[in-house]
Amino acid sequence: MKHFSREDIDQMSSIYRLNMINSCTGYKSANLIGTQSENGKTNLAVFNSVVHLGSNPPLIGFILRPTTVPRHSHQNMKKNGFFTINHIHQSQIEDAHHTSAKYPEEISEFDQTSLMEEYKEEIKAPFVKNAPLQLGCRYLNEYQIKENDTSIIIGQIEHIFIEEEMLLEDGWVQLDKGGVVAINGLDGYAIPKLIERFTYARPKIKAK
Ligand SMILES: Cc1cc2nc3c(=O)[nH]c(=O)nc-3n(C[C@H](O)[C@H](O)[C@H](O)COP(=O)(O)O)c2cc1C
Repeated sequence: MKHFSREDIDQMSSIYRLNMINSCTGYKSANLIGTQSENGKTNLAVFNSVVHLGSNPPLIGFILRPTTVPRHSHQNMKKNGFFTINHIHQSQIEDAHHTSAKYPEEISEFDQTSLMEEYKEEIKAPFVKNAPLQLGCRYLNEYQIKENDTSIIIGQIEHIFIEEEMLLEDGWVQLDKGGVVAINGLDGYAIPKLIERFTYARPKIKAK
């Protein structure tokens, strides 16, 4: 196997290091976060760091890069208190990736792609129309990660919209039935396929 020490990592070119470090922790979730500014301008950006924090209350988190440049999604959700998380369907990957381009605040990524806005319930932020799974979230809090000046943003799920064929009787959501993609690194989009589901694991009993 090829081996890289911390010293080797430090000596890599920045693009090589970015590619390797971003992909070596595994497949990531692929989400489009939708927000709206105070004057109604919409914003959409791809994120690969959304994680589950707890189910009761239903909390999620995501990592925000250092705010050394304007982070429009973050500014908007902090101001109006809402954001949406939209899973990316395999047919949407090109447009989804394009939302990471650095557009000025007054330009909406919805106008630069064929992705369409959708508004539901009391959520003051756009959902992505036809996304197989959509979460309407309330911004709750954020914590700085002092080691690299990133932050973890905490949100509470207020509404869940799921394509019916993905939702199983016990509440489990089978993502591959909805054509939901995952991200490999920062620019590779993959389509995972379910192998098996298991019963709750207990010591010394083989899960079925
Ligand atoms: C695949 C992919 C995943 C990304 N994940 C994150 C992320 O988790 N956190 C983050 O702050 N930026 C992430 N970005 C960068 C944002 O998409 C990019 O900075 C975008 O312009 C942010 O838009 P905004 O400033 O309008 O919020 C990611 C980019 C790509 C291509």
